[in-house]
Amino acid sequence: MTTDHYFSPDPEAPSRRRRWTERLRGREFTFVSDAGVFSGRRVDPGSRLLIEGVDLPERGDILDLGCGYGVLGIVCAACAPGARVTMVDINRRAVELARENAALNGVADRVDVLESDGFSALAGRRFDLIVTNPPFRQGKALVSRWLTEARHYLNAGGRLALVVRTRQGALSWRRRLEEWYGHCREVDKGGGYRVYEVTKPGPEQTEGRT
Ligand SMILES: C[S@@+](CC[C@H](N)C(=O)[O-])C[C@H]1O[C@@H](n2cnc3c(N)ncnc32)[C@H](O)[C@@H]1O
Repeated sequence: MTTDHYFSPDPEAPSRRRRWTERLRGREFTFVSDAGVFSGRRVDPGSRLLIEGVDLPERGDILDLGCGYGVLGIVCAACAPGARVTMVDINRRAVELARENAALNGVADRVDVLESDGFSALAGRRFDLIVTNPPFRQGKALVSRWLTEARHYLNAGGRLALVVRTRQGALSWRRRLEEWYGHCREVDKGGGYRVYEVTKPGPEQTEGRT
């Protein structure tokens, strides 16, 4: 028996690869996932709600933060062909799978997958959209850090979209996001999940603010 979690940098769980096909945003995708990686055999229902409902920019840069086997970033790359997608995860097995899945779904040329502890590998980068299904099981401190640091990695007018399980304190997270960003929009809800979105103010909206 192993003691690793899906967020271990190097999962010890013996490989148990699975491959499946699912329809997302009206297209078919094939994914491979494995033991020791979040959602080892299907698309998580929260991730599905997020990726079905989020508005994708036509061009620019998209970040999938905590990409796992890559579902969010790969769907973004396929459905926003003018955008470049960066995907990061701390779990090496997830990073390898995300690369494999990008190739499997024909988007490898517009996707970069990096091993990164949160934003650590992204110094100086800015994105127009950050999508994330955060690792709430790792605790409030880590998720709070991701959601507050995200502002520094967004272009003016860029958006952060995330999914939260209603019973994992979605309404409290919504209040925190309102406090940190001055607003929070509920994009979607269903199946015990809520999708929230915040926007980094553009230059005209930041005038006069410190
Ligand atoms: C809830 S899962 C979501 C995975 C994937 N985006 C999906 O929708 O199926 C959260 C992901 O965050 C990753 N993660 C946890 N801690 C991390 C950290 N410190 N830095 C980067 N990724 C991390 C986990 O390995 C996991 O893949």
